[in-house]
Amino acid sequence: MPPKSVYLDNAATTRPEQEVIAAMMDALEQRWGNPSSIHEAGRKARVRVEEARRQVTDLMRCRPEEIVFTSGGTEANNLAILGTLGRVQGQKTHIITAATEHRAVLDTVKWCGEHGFETTVLPVGSDGRLDPADVKKAIRPSTALVSVMFVNNEIGTIHDIAEIGRITREAGVIFHTDAVQGFGMIPFTSAELNADLVSVSSHKIYGPKGIGALYVRQGIRLEPRIHGGHQERGLRTGTENTVGIVGFGKACELCREKIDSEPARIRSLRDRLETEIIESIDDVEILGSREHRAPGILNCSFKGCEGEALLVGLDMQGIYIATGSACESGEAGASHVPMALGLSRADAQASLRFSFGRYNTNEDIDTVMAVLPGIVKRLRQMSPIMP
Ligand SMILES: Cc1ncc(COP(=O)(O)O)c(C=O)c1O
Repeated sequence: MPPKSVYLDNAATTRPEQEVIAAMMDALEQRWGNPSSIHEAGRKARVRVEEARRQVTDLMRCRPEEIVFTSGGTEANNLAILGTLGRVQGQKTHIITAATEHRAVLDTVKWCGEHGFETTVLPVGSDGRLDPADVKKAIRPSTALVSVMFVNNEIGTIHDIAEIGRITREAGVIFHTDAVQGFGMIPFTSAELNADLVSVSSHKIYGPKGIGALYVRQGIRLEPRIHGGHQERGLRTGTENTVGIVGFGKACELCREKIDSEPARIRSLRDRLETEIIESIDDVEILGSREHRAPGILNCSFKGCEGEALLVGLDMQGIYIATGSACESGEAGASHVPMALGLSRADAQASLRFSFGRYNTNEDIDTVMAVLPGIVKRLRQMSPIMP
């Protein structure tokens, strides 16, 4: 990355902390044994894996035996959904989710719909929030699972997970939440969320990629998706990614140390950028609920601009942001999230996500505001829809 670049794409991924890298180097050099081996090299690796599991549970405040390490949020979501459906018997063939979920949930649910399950994808309001009453109405005797994300990755909207969890528990339906975006930023316990299954990922919290976890509440039984061993209590077999797990554990420990102060600092940066954009650029719409929103995410639609062109214009100035989610950039058309909020295709395509993290500073906002109004103005001059 050039020295003067500004990274505002922390919802896509974060730069690993130095302490995380050091812990991973130590694991590579000193803890290279197979954690399942009973000799000393194996035992040394096992100790670190279990220490990392405790670091994860210290942040999530759950029991070590409730954590299953996976290759990340996508696999955790797949294990939660497919693993639940693999266990449910007979008439339990219905899944409920929401229109603004991450593709790792939406596409998995879609696949289930193509393989004999009934699916309900609930709409959200113009503020991006799902009404828990709609979940209640959608539950049928055949409902096996409800999957609703904690924080939306594109607009930052926080869903009322605790209430949805209360409704599902009352109805005897298993409840999964994809908490990849809230984890490490918004303090929660799986018990507070009333969730049976919670997905988290390491690379969104300054840890390495390719590692994450699924919280599986004690008593919930899942069908494994990968066969061939005994690791992770048979739920995610294959030799453990020791180095990734150690890095993830360290990242959780650092988040826990910072969780009382970091979100407030990040929120004030985000709010400053939002205020300055509104004050200096006309015809900007802030997407999603402003009240129920994660501290680090700001999504704006710049009427008359092409989001991709804005992104390229900022990229040329060393400012890295996103249109839609990282997984969707590169796909033609508008992201499903602004479309689900009721935006026109043109306004949805005009949206940009700025996502803040640990390393951002006020100077980053100065840099953005020094160039963004000019780029928007130039693009609008070329726009056929602006007066
Ligand atoms: C809400 C959400 N769920 C799931 C994922 C996927 O996580 P991973 O990249 O660890 O597979 C992401 C990452 O983009 C995300 O933002």
